[in-house]
Amino acid sequence: MKVLITGAAGQIGSDLVPIIRDFGHEVIETDLAYDEETEARRSLDITDADACEALFRELKPNWVIHLAALLSAKGEKRPDVTYAINLTATKNLFDRCREHGVERIGFASTIAVYGPSDKSVVSEEDARWPTTMYGVTKAACENLAQYYRGRFDQDIRCIRFPGLISDVPPGGGTSDYVNHMYIESVAGRAYQAFCRANTRIPIMYMPDAVRAVAELMMAPKGSLTKAAYNISAFSPTAQEFRDSILKEIPTANLTFESVQARQDILDSWPDALDDSAARSDWGWNPQYDLDAMTRDLVKLLKRK
Ligand SMILES: NC(=O)c1ccc[n+]([C@@H]2O[C@H](COP(=O)([O-])OP(=O)(O)OC[C@H]3O[C@@H](n4cnc5c(N)ncnc54)[C@H](O)[C@@H]3O)[C@@H](O)[C@H]2O)c1
Repeated sequence: MKVLITGAAGQIGSDLVPIIRDFGHEVIETDLAYDEETEARRSLDITDADACEALFRELKPNWVIHLAALLSAKGEKRPDVTYAINLTATKNLFDRCREHGVERIGFASTIAVYGPSDKSVVSEEDARWPTTMYGVTKAACENLAQYYRGRFDQDIRCIRFPGLISDVPPGGGTSDYVNHMYIESVAGRAYQAFCRANTRIPIMYMPDAVRAVAELMMAPKGSLTKAAYNISAFSPTAQEFRDSILKEIPTANLTFESVQARQDILDSWPDALDDSAARSDWGWNPQYDLDAMTRDLVKLLKRK
């Protein structure tokens, strides 16, 4: 398959591209910036409808994996731009895919589609009342995907990621404090996380997340019962991340000081996700728990 990926230069794209290639597919990487070093990436601003049309006409991808977006923290600073990139451009992209016969679309959604809830574990059936422009745009894209699946039989598969952790610097999300706890500890620097020590959010290690995308994309259409799937791995508090890092780096200097705007976003997210539909429909099964992630990530970061 010829697989076009938007936002391929980002935190997820960097790890997803090799996995999709490993599965034997041809990958067309696109992002805002053309990569002069490798010449491997095509420049595509997804808000440029004419550029999207021209690229689809030229390249005729079979599948599209749509990652390009502004994330939660950046999104709250620039809500209008976030709406244009995350929602208007995504609708245009879905429409171009349909016109150009793209057979399958993968869409990166998020736990930010949920708002504050009394439930500690939420499923796909629970209400989505997001409190950020980021969450609003992602929830609307999921609704659009559901509508296009019914109206046009368009095969759009949304995956709701928890906060993702990798050795690549994060791109402006609110779970970034976890990445920085690892990056700064390995570098021997102190780090003050912008949340309370007891903040608990769902988290996943990137190798599991990119494998999930590949597996969802490859699942037979007939086995999928939902437009959007929760996936889940583990949900530690910020203090539990600190404890896990201290096992590998006993000198780590990690403290917590809550920053209200970011804490509000964190507090609006669910503690944990029910991912039983992903497990039964397409065999989702995470490999990494907190300490396994810490051991692997510390090793990777030390090599950098
Ligand atoms: N990283 C996470 O923890 C996380 C969690 C949940 C969901 N997601 C979703 O996964 C997707 C990828 O996230 P990421 O962490 O790789 O983010 P990132 O910020 O690292 O990467 C996003 C990429 O999109 C590109 N981009 C931004 N505006 C664009 C535009 N107008 N046209 C083309 N490209 C544009 C950026 O240049 C960047 O390379 C996003 O849709 C995000 O909402 C990420």
